[in-house]
Amino acid sequence: MKKVGVAILGLGTVGGGTYRILTEKREMFRQVQKLDVSVEAVLEINRAKAEALGVPEGVLTASLDDVLNNPAVDIVVEVIGGVEPARTFILSALKRGKTVVTANKELISKYWYEIEAVAKEHRAGFYFEASCVGGVPIIRTLIDGMQANRIESMMGIINGTTNFILSKMANEGLDYGSVLRQAQESGFAEADPTSDVEGFDAAYKLSILSSLAFSAKVPLEEVYREGISGIDIKDINLGKELGYTLKLLGIGKNTEKGIECRVHPAFIPKSNPLASVDGSFNAVLLHGDSVDDIMLYGRGAGALPTGSAIVSDILYAAKQQEHYYTPFPNTKKADPATRFVTDFETRYYLRLTVADAVGVLSSISGVLGRHNVSVLVVEQRGEAKNGAAEIIFITHKTFENSIQAAIAELKKSDLVYAVNTLIRVED
Ligand code: HSE
Repeated sequence: MKKVGVAILGLGTVGGGTYRILTEKREMFRQVQKLDVSVEAVLEINRAKAEALGVPEGVLTASLDDVLNNPAVDIVVEVIGGVEPARTFILSALKRGKTVVTANKELISKYWYEIEAVAKEHRAGFYFEASCVGGVPIIRTLIDGMQANRIESMMGIINGTTNFILSKMANEGLDYGSVLRQAQESGFAEADPTSDVEGFDAAYKLSILSSLAFSAKVPLEEVYREGISGIDIKDINLGKELGYTLKLLGIGKNTEKGIECRVHPAFIPKSNPLASVDGSFNAVLLHGDSVDDIMLYGRGAGALPTGSAIVSDILYAAKQQEHYYTPFPNTKKADPATRFVTDFETRYYLRLTVADAVGVLSSISGVLGRHNVSVLVVEQRGEAKNGAAEIIFITHKTFENSIQAAIAELKKSDLVYAVNTLIRVED
């Protein structure tokens, strides 16, 4: 039976989950996978974490050299997170010809080109299923399950923290600040929530997933990004009344105009299957030209779900005759031949505070019309107060540049007291 020696760098949540799965299921992997997978080294300076998991003395080390010099280690699992020292550790392991498995989306989205070049040069494997959507096997689906397709689009909830926050705001009518505080207290959000709530985490994932789905390098800087920290509970409630649910979406499209990638909050109709993905769950809708729609749903984070993806990569890597490398040129910048769409087209929800006076609506409609923004719904919400009224517009499909130009003009109007909210509406 083939022996596979694994080293785990970092015993945090995911490292601990990976260790548990590997040790508790060793016999199952022998029986079913015909692989004898053993944990040969664990790099961790916090001995208490190692003791809690029952890592034997001889396996625990605080030295990367111990791991890299250990001939029994075939596969190195990097679960430290962040760019450094993870990048240096990964490159060092690959240079020794060791295959690397990682969950590190930030590192891949920024240094994939460098890591893959080193992996290829040293004929080592580089696998990263756990980097996107935790335990949901989306990368394997894209690479090994949808080869018969030109993937045309994906739309997903690819960040659990923001989905937890938005779901709780919607379900309990609470404002963003108090839900974030509760989420931090209960461990659903990090002490510094920036990466999640400002959409960076989702943008890292979308850059990786879009590159794989569209077989072209989509650098992080080509992903439009907007987070949820400015979301007002008032808009969630108004959206509900209009039949919409608010989600932070990652959207990737490959059209004849080019590749379009964006992360931002969006209203989706309640009938969209993503609308019922609640709490910290993730889900992605993929559309391929042969298979039609596929939806993947599951836990995007957590010790055992993400450990499940890591272990799947270990078993997959151990069985490869030749390692997988991306079929597109994995360069730092995009291929000059790849076109990107930045002036994307969608519908918009706009909430304005305006003067309560005759002719205001026609003046605003005039501004929108001059910028080719066509209105589908217009409603005044509540009674006017102190000479001001609140108006909501939902537009037909229009271009991002057009709505932005219209808003810039509205902001200059004496009749518009405030442009409160602009939220995209996706079908
Ligand atoms: N922090 C991420 C999330 C999980 O909230 O979905 C890891 O990417």
